[in-house]
Amino acid sequence: MLSRQYADLHSGLGLSIAKRLCTDFLATYPTHETLTIIFTTRSSRKSTTTLSLLIDHLAALDRSGHSATLRIRFSTAQVDLTSLPSVAALSKHLIHSFPHLDAAIFNAGMGAFTGIDWLGCFISLAKNWVEAVTHPVFKIQAVGRTVPQPAVGGGDIGEVFCANVFGHYYLAHELMPLLRQGRGRIIWVSSLEAYARVFDKDDLEGRKATHSYEASKRLTDVIALTSSLPATKAWADSYFSASEQEQEKEKGERRPKMFLSHPGICATAMVDLHVVLFYCMTLAFYIARWIGSPWHTISTDTGANAPVHLALARDEELVETEAQRKKWGSGSDRAGKGVLRVTDVEGESGEEWEELGRDVWRQMEELRVVWKARLEEAK
Ligand SMILES: NC(=O)c1ccc[n+]([C@@H]2O[C@H](COP(=O)([O-])OP(=O)(O)OC[C@H]3O[C@@H](n4cnc5c(N)ncnc54)[C@H](OP(=O)(O)O)[C@@H]3O)[C@@H](O)[C@H]2O)c1
Repeated sequence: MLSRQYADLHSGLGLSIAKRLCTDFLATYPTHETLTIIFTTRSSRKSTTTLSLLIDHLAALDRSGHSATLRIRFSTAQVDLTSLPSVAALSKHLIHSFPHLDAAIFNAGMGAFTGIDWLGCFISLAKNWVEAVTHPVFKIQAVGRTVPQPAVGGGDIGEVFCANVFGHYYLAHELMPLLRQGRGRIIWVSSLEAYARVFDKDDLEGRKATHSYEASKRLTDVIALTSSLPATKAWADSYFSASEQEQEKEKGERRPKMFLSHPGICATAMVDLHVVLFYCMTLAFYIARWIGSPWHTISTDTGANAPVHLALARDEELVETEAQRKKWGSGSDRAGKGVLRVTDVEGESGEEWEELGRDVWRQMEELRVVWKARLEEAK
């Protein structure tokens, strides 16, 4: 039992997203509708552990009167998002195994975190507790980490960029045929730490970035929120359509859509901490919530609120709330009850924003085409 709890604690937001998809689907969809959840991990061992946790969750839902096991199925696959051949293999597997995809939730993420500046941490907590644990300035990050792609004719990619953004971006493009057959929602998981100041559009991969994690999240925000603007159309059209004929046929109606979410702040193992420090961090988060932070969801179940909402909401609701143009955050009230909150994005709107979107989309598409050609060549 203890090992189960430990696994649960360290499985982060991804496991909670899968669990909430089950719970919320059963609560909100008619009983004749079914759901298949495909989750990915980096190892078959983790897939097995996660699957057994999810099966336990379904059994608990069954015991509380839902016909969960009849209506929900799981499938799992492995992928390392920093390896483009692995991403390509996953897309191939999915294309061959499933007829459509309603939503792809891009939750996996990493940072190049190497430690904590403890003095900076205590000073910032003393100055403003909530700010210190909402926008921490004391996480130390490695600069210039890249991942080689030996199986694809060499070359390398910024590691955090590839795990958090490019691997997902590449995967979604390869999955367009499946997304077009379903509801076609691409749901990014960003962060409150997506600061404009740390992102340099001339260093898209964050090779020189001192805050490559935050830079990757700012890039995520820009990609998602500018994906439907006229300014990015030329590049987004080539991304969302597999071929020119499809662009003709599609006329925008069945085009997959990008949505943007973040989980607030949850206690997870994103930054690797000793167990004692993990509990100190969690206590610091509770204190922040008690003194008024709207973002300390703490529990990953509450953190999963925003991405799961975007995956399960009816099309009409998403249109009505202009969901595609907003950053949807999981927040919390003082008692820990989940609250969905629209989150401000720095510099959103105006000519500069459109210019940024266009530039970013051009670079992402150019990069995708280059790597796609290399992958084809390596076959
Ligand atoms: N926790 C927060 O407060 C918070 C706040 C804002 C945003 N987020 C975002 O929420 C998402 C989930 O984070 P978390 O807090 O749940 O952290 P976590 O517990 O560290 O989970 C990260 C997940 O990403 C997977 N992953 C990392 N690198 C990968 C790669 N190269 N290929 C495939 N999978 C990879 C990990 O797989 P393994 O299990 O194999 O390591 C793990 O399942 C991330 O995108 C993060 O940026 C979290």
